Amino acid sequence: MGENTRTCCCECDHSEAALLARIGELAAEYRGKEGSLIQVLHMAQGIYGYLPIEVQRVIADTLDIPLAEVAGVVTFYSFFSTQPRGRHTIRVCLGTACYVRGGKKIVERIKELLDVEIGETTKDRLFTFEVARCIGACGLAPAMSIDDQVYKQVNPDKLEQILKRYYEED
Ligand code: FES
Repeated sequence: MGENTRTCCCECDHSEAALLARIGELAAEYRGKEGSLIQVLHMAQGIYGYLPIEVQRVIADTLDIPLAEVAGVVTFYSFFSTQPRGRHTIRVCLGTACYVRGGKKIVERIKELLDVEIGETTKDRLFTFEVARCIGACGLAPAMSIDDQVYKQVNPDKLEQILKRYYEED
């Protein structure tokens, strides 16, 4: 199976070309409707998973707006991503409390375990790795989250165990 082909249990065509065509069709319904770009981008990200330049181009052409305008909106809002995202998002807190209590060590250990840099997604697309300023658990620093689950007083030596659960789930 090629890298550009997605799979799921339904019978839909998930090839890249089919996804782009679907995004084009969907965007066409919004042509001429002012202020619809963000909505179209959200839907496109839902369909494609992220917003690479080829997706942005389909949207720009279909809505008849400059590609630079689409790209500007995509880069402005943090909820849009131009890179593939992992199924789970890890956020290690580097706010003051967590930083002084070893947040940096957690970052280093995750980089080592997952072979990713901050902002990257693992090759198996299981995790996207990010850092955060504060996730509201300062009293029990250092903290990190994976999706909605917050982990407090994280010991870098226990990270492997934490991550293992997500491999087992998938
Ligand atoms: S500084 Fe890390 S949770 Fe607040």
